[in-house]
Amino acid sequence: MLGAFACASAVAAQPTPAPATPAEAQSTPGTPLPKDKHGKAAPPPTCALPKDQVSDCFADHLAREVLHNTWFGIPTLQNPLDVWITQEIISQTKPDFIVEAGTFVGGSAALWATILEQVNPKGRVITIDIHDASKKTRETLPIFKRRIDFLLGSSTAPETFAKVKRRVGKGSAMVILDSGHTEHHVLDELRLYAPLVHVGGYIVVQDGFFDGKQPTGFGPGPKAAVEAFLAENDAFVADRDRERLMGSFNPMGFLRRVK
Ligand SMILES: C[S@@+](CC[C@H](N)C(=O)[O-])C[C@H]1O[C@@H](n2cnc3c(N)ncnc32)[C@H](O)[C@@H]1O
Repeated sequence: MLGAFACASAVAAQPTPAPATPAEAQSTPGTPLPKDKHGKAAPPPTCALPKDQVSDCFADHLAREVLHNTWFGIPTLQNPLDVWITQEIISQTKPDFIVEAGTFVGGSAALWATILEQVNPKGRVITIDIHDASKKTRETLPIFKRRIDFLLGSSTAPETFAKVKRRVGKGSAMVILDSGHTEHHVLDELRLYAPLVHVGGYIVVQDGFFDGKQPTGFGPGPKAAVEAFLAENDAFVADRDRERLMGSFNPMGFLRRVK
């Protein structure tokens, strides 16, 4: 399980003096407080801890809970805060295809398809896994039959990518990477799938929060891959506003194509 990360010690280890007020802790100098729909400033937060510490502790807590999450009763290893943000991206960009690497039992593919169907009725999800653990979901869940294509194979195998490319054609694709989590594999995926994303579209690289944290000897992972990818590819930027809800598993993982 995850969690070589100790919230209490992270908080205790901070050398910076405690902020004078909760509002000072949470707001960046010069950044106006968010307004409600009537134009009134939202009340200042009552939590006095700095944002990054709250965020890291909450993500650490969520990491222990996501293994129990389900969508339509199907195990779905997703952080609900990142799901919300991904939903906003899908709703704003309305891609023709969502290409997901890492199907597992199929819960997340069903989740993306549920959202996509509402904003692009012709949209389809293509989901890829090297293991077939989603057979029952594929055979029983209506949204799976209607909207989702499952490909069995490694996401980086040339024959897998060729099938995806053929299906996407000239359509716009959003890419969600949640398969193997080594730096090497994620960087290969990024290089391979990035050309399918149109300008304004997104690649979501999941789970960079866990780089170096897993007790299984997991070292550099998705976040390291993102850093390497951005260093070699200036067509994408990390859209860090997408981490606004805090507690994200995807630091620097919401990549927007800008050219
Ligand atoms: C974290 S799980 C995916 C969870 C799923 N997206 C969800 O939210 O429920 C990772 C999956 O990636 C698959 N996987 C690992 N290496 C892969 C590879 N090279 N290509 C495709 N899938 C791979 C595993 O079999 C596993 O089902």
